[in-house]
Amino acid sequence: MSCILITGGFGYIGSHTATILSENNKKFVIVDNFSNCKREIVDRLKMCTNDNVAHYECDIRDTKSLVKIIKENKVTSVIHFAALKSVADSIINPLEYYEVNVNGTISLLKAMKTTGVKKFLFSSTAAVYGEPDFCPIDENHKLKPLNPYAQTKIIIENILKDIVKSEINWSIVCLRYFNPIGSHKSGLIGDDPLMAKNSNLMPEIIKVVRGYKNHLDVFGDDYGTPDGTGIRDYIHIMDLSEAHVKALDFIDKNNGINFFNIGTGKGVSVLQLKTAFEKVSGFNLPIKISKRREGDCAICYANPKKANEILKWNSKYDLSQMCQSAWIFVEKNSK
Ligand code: NAD
Ligand code: UD1
Repeated sequence: MSCILITGGFGYIGSHTATILSENNKKFVIVDNFSNCKREIVDRLKMCTNDNVAHYECDIRDTKSLVKIIKENKVTSVIHFAALKSVADSIINPLEYYEVNVNGTISLLKAMKTTGVKKFLFSSTAAVYGEPDFCPIDENHKLKPLNPYAQTKIIIENILKDIVKSEINWSIVCLRYFNPIGSHKSGLIGDDPLMAKNSNLMPEIIKVVRGYKNHLDVFGDDYGTPDGTGIRDYIHIMDLSEAHVKALDFIDKNNGINFFNIGTGKGVSVLQLKTAFEKVSGFNLPIKISKRREGDCAICYANPKKANEILKWNSKYDLSQMCQSAWIFVEKNSK
């Protein structure tokens, strides 16, 4: 039976993807250094998958250990989530981002080369497009990184392009995620980062609900959008996770390298998301309009047609369902 190595599998996207892989009877083993996840995630994921989750505490920069893990588990493909992901932090600490994201990926690829594993699914980001020239953004849009985090993802995409040229039989997919929100239906796992420096919109909303913050800072209401606030393509975490199963099927059947946007194709403003969340939770979210956040673009949403047609993947959940699922996680985890 084939076995998938999941790096960063205890993080937000990795853990949700693991539940879907488990539902699809796919065998996997997780590698994580626990730098951005709580230890309790291990037991929670076990509960979601009714399974003993095979895992190793290991840093992806430790090539020797990766080789051992790949051999021990007879790994046949890799999904690579492990990375640092805060844009703001990457501007302050660029070397850390190049070290973990780029060197970490090189270390992983070296371990794969040593063991002859050539199937690779990579977590890229919509941040590679920077301030878009047009929306919806398709995969041919120019890459214009605005920060070190996005740079690291482009460098990795370029390394991957070179790898498929250098050796036959590599099969690589890069998924460029838009903005995942929400949680697993059990409410056992959700977007629960350890590092305070991660400050995406939904986790910030949840901080207000939990009383860790008095209000939500809205970063700018003077963009050229209908209500003046930034527009993004929010996608249910389970829809995004499902894309990995489809991408793995594609990888099994196709060599070379391919890039796919994973978004709904719908733009939603900060205030629209806030209102949708208030509706499902019954919670009133106080806001304060702050100045624009450095490095933010006004509007960013996907053209997901390529993933729809080639991967046969489609998003299913609407905004209200996304907020409902984020709310379930709050309700089940409020002490
Ligand atoms: P996350 O921080 O929740 O998960 C990453 C996991 O990797 C964590 O469990 C962390 O402990 C682990 N990790 C970090 N450095 C490691 C290392 N050196 N060795 C081993 N494990 C390590 O992040 P996420 O939201 O699940 O994101 C997963 C991937 O998707 C990342 O590559 C991220 O850049 C990308 N991405 C995320 C988003 C998003 O909105 N969440 C959007 C676009 C792209
Ligand atoms: C951010 C990153 C992106 C990364 C993704 C996942 C930036 C510029 N981009 O995307 O590279 O892949 O997270 O880590 O950081 N907002 C508020 N108040 C808040 C938080 C956010 O108003 O407290 C607004 C933002 O200005 C933006 C929208 O909400 O308009 C979404 O922000 P966020 O969730 O951080 O995602 P992105 O910025 O799209």
